[in-house]
Amino acid sequence: MTAAPGQQALALDVRGLSKRFGALTAVDNVSFSVRSGEIFGLVGPDGAGKTTTMRMLASVMRADAGAIRIDEVDVVADPERTKRHVSYMPQRFGLYDDLTVDENIRFFADLFDVPRKLWQERAVQLLTASRMLPFRQRLAGQLSGGMKQKLGLTCALVHAPRVLLLDEPTTGVDPVSRREFWQILYSLRATGVAMVISTAYLDEAERCDRLALFDEGSMMYCDTPQQLKRELPGAIVRVASVRPREAAAAIERVAGVRGVLLVGDGVHVHVDDAQASGAPLAQALQAAGVPAGPVERIEPTIEDLFVALLERKHKAA
Ligand SMILES: Nc1ncnc2c1ncn2[C@@H]1O[C@H](COP(=O)(O)OP(=O)(O)O)[C@@H](O)[C@H]1O
Ligand SMILES: [Mg+2]
Repeated sequence: MTAAPGQQALALDVRGLSKRFGALTAVDNVSFSVRSGEIFGLVGPDGAGKTTTMRMLASVMRADAGAIRIDEVDVVADPERTKRHVSYMPQRFGLYDDLTVDENIRFFADLFDVPRKLWQERAVQLLTASRMLPFRQRLAGQLSGGMKQKLGLTCALVHAPRVLLLDEPTTGVDPVSRREFWQILYSLRATGVAMVISTAYLDEAERCDRLALFDEGSMMYCDTPQQLKRELPGAIVRVASVRPREAAAAIERVAGVRGVLLVGDGVHVHVDDAQASGAPLAQALQAAGVPAGPVERIEPTIEDLFVALLERKHKAA
């Protein structure tokens, strides 16, 4: 079904992209490329530079430096030439609240001169996939948050773009709609659309084919989620506890502990060696009188990796 990314053509190529706002460097010398049929994630906290990067890719903001090529065309020099092939769904997508679902879709189709028969076919397909078909006559202003985002995606897709730029499309969206949204992205991937998606949800980061981790304008890492996990120095162990804060305080200074991350039901501990740290961690918890389960080695989550990268960066600084 889906070809391996390596077999597909390069859809988007970014080299040395930078953007400053006064003294602030919002995007600092960022380079990556995305192939057709690949979902590429931009992951990072607020202010990391994700939106600014997206805006430059979408040619709605000029880069201070760097090159962007879409389908071999230089976008910085000739933004008009690629416009038809690119679709950008900004963080706050401009749907018309006083138009119906159908009228919104038609508006975006007209913007790109999509023939009526074609956009109607596409609309039915996309609305079916997102279970929105019964709501075609509803005003956009009366849709739920999740439905609005699915309609936004439908509008962004009526002209069948080859490159799709999605800026935090699922922020604030309920879990069921988020899952449906991702199903649509997977079916687009199978048709060869290249996607760049920014997200603040780390579980969504795991769904991307490749990820770029952003912090303070720089790209700290860029690879598949699997490769990121393999390259983590040391290991992650989990300790379940009903008092995670106390557990974290008790084990922070144990030898071989690189960092501690609070999770809902305990702590994730980044250690040099999972085997060797089991006994000292258990002893430290016992000595502090913190109730805790056994120390178990786990697969690192994207959040563990992100925190580990930040620790390393701040230690180096
Ligand atoms: N138009 C602007 N003028 C000045 N500063 C900006 C502007 N847009 C973004 N910034 C700043 O650039 C940095 C990156 O912002 P942004 O790209 O929106 O990050 P993200 O999308 O990852 O949250 C932030 O510090 C933000 O305040
Ligand atoms: Mg943003």
